Amino acid sequence: MTDRPAPPTADDVRTMLRAVIDPELGANIVDLGMAGEVTVTPAGAVTIGIKLTIKGCPLRAQIKNDIESRVETHPGVTKVTIDWGEMTATERSEVMTKARWNAREGASDTAVPINARVLAIASGKGGVGKSSVTANLAVALAAHGRTVGVLDADIWGFSMPRMLGMAERLEARRIEGHDKPRIIPNERHVGAGLLKVVSTGMLVDDESTALMWRGLMLTKAVEQFLNDVHWGNLDFLLIDMPPGTGDVQMGLARMLPRTDLIIVTTPATSAQKVAIRAADMARRSFLRVAGVIENMSAFTCEHDSTYPLFGEGGGAALAAEIGAPLLGQVPIEPAVARGSDNGEPIAAAGNSPAAKVFRDVAQQIIDSTVPATEMAGCSARSADAVEVAIRTKPAGQRT
Ligand SMILES: Nc1ncnc2c1ncn2[C@@H]1O[C@H](COP(=O)(O)OP(=O)(O)O)[C@@H](O)[C@H]1O
Ligand SMILES: [Mg+2]
Repeated sequence: MTDRPAPPTADDVRTMLRAVIDPELGANIVDLGMAGEVTVTPAGAVTIGIKLTIKGCPLRAQIKNDIESRVETHPGVTKVTIDWGEMTATERSEVMTKARWNAREGASDTAVPINARVLAIASGKGGVGKSSVTANLAVALAAHGRTVGVLDADIWGFSMPRMLGMAERLEARRIEGHDKPRIIPNERHVGAGLLKVVSTGMLVDDESTALMWRGLMLTKAVEQFLNDVHWGNLDFLLIDMPPGTGDVQMGLARMLPRTDLIIVTTPATSAQKVAIRAADMARRSFLRVAGVIENMSAFTCEHDSTYPLFGEGGGAALAAEIGAPLLGQVPIEPAVARGSDNGEPIAAAGNSPAAKVFRDVAQQIIDSTVPATEMAGCSARSADAVEVAIRTKPAGQRT
């Protein structure tokens, strides 16, 4: 690189920190008051003061990772240093009050549960396999026993109903505790897991839904899916992004700043072009790139000859360019397209090389997500969490 991009302002950094969720306390670290002073030098060295509820908190490593990778996303950042501190008893009790309030109010600003890991599948252009990747990762994660939400954000070019074999109409229903009717996602069991899917391909012009979707705009539709869907519990939310346009990405960044991007590319797509777009998007929206998937990689025929029909090296080059891991290379396989057309993504049970790559990527995603059991190691917070649970959650109310 020639000119180094300008460093972010302290406010920019605070915006990025809003994407860092303390999963145990159910809110972002800025709202919780854990983020303290932020300084940025002209050379792009960022120092962030973070106060933990107690110093030995087991979530420290995760919070550190999360902060570093979010803030390093900004191209003008050269170094991230965290200045750790510990809250006073008074500060701790303030945080707990906030956590209580969050628990009572249903935590997040959207209807997406705060503990769900949100992954948006995006690319520089259409036709590279975003939807195929979304569908296959969804079934592969579900096959691990996870509950996986799928939001088809390709409002006009939806493919989730076809690819997941779920075309039933969405229902809107009144749910206790909400004044507006809520959209109920379509469900499908996969192995021990569950898919919960919403797509504009599942809408019908009956009265309740027509009202809800009147004056539909791209970003508004996604906003409604984030706000008005009764997701219930989710381990993951996968978002199949529309091609091109940054509007949806920007809306998502505003509403769900903890969204991580998975960028799909082909072996032949110019890594630099995609990287520039991704970096540009990251700069404007502060979304983190969790990794790159190369799709339509070399096709291997039954005689074991390999044909790089669509070129080679695009995924690795893009990953290197944006400093994100290359999660996998999915070969070209007629079975991938067939599975999509039949509503049976091959990653659920198939044994082909492509199916294995999808499952391997799903495994990497699971491995990089801290399971709830590991969060419950912090006794001071656990004691408070129990108190929160007892005080604010009447049995069976929280979903
Ligand atoms: N690995 C693959 N092997 C063979 N066909 C594929 C593969 N990935 C995607 N396809 C096919 O390519 C087309 C475009 O894929 P799609 O997932 O709809 O892309 P996007 O969502 O990026 O527009 C579809 O017909 C799909 O079945
Ligand atoms: Mg698509």
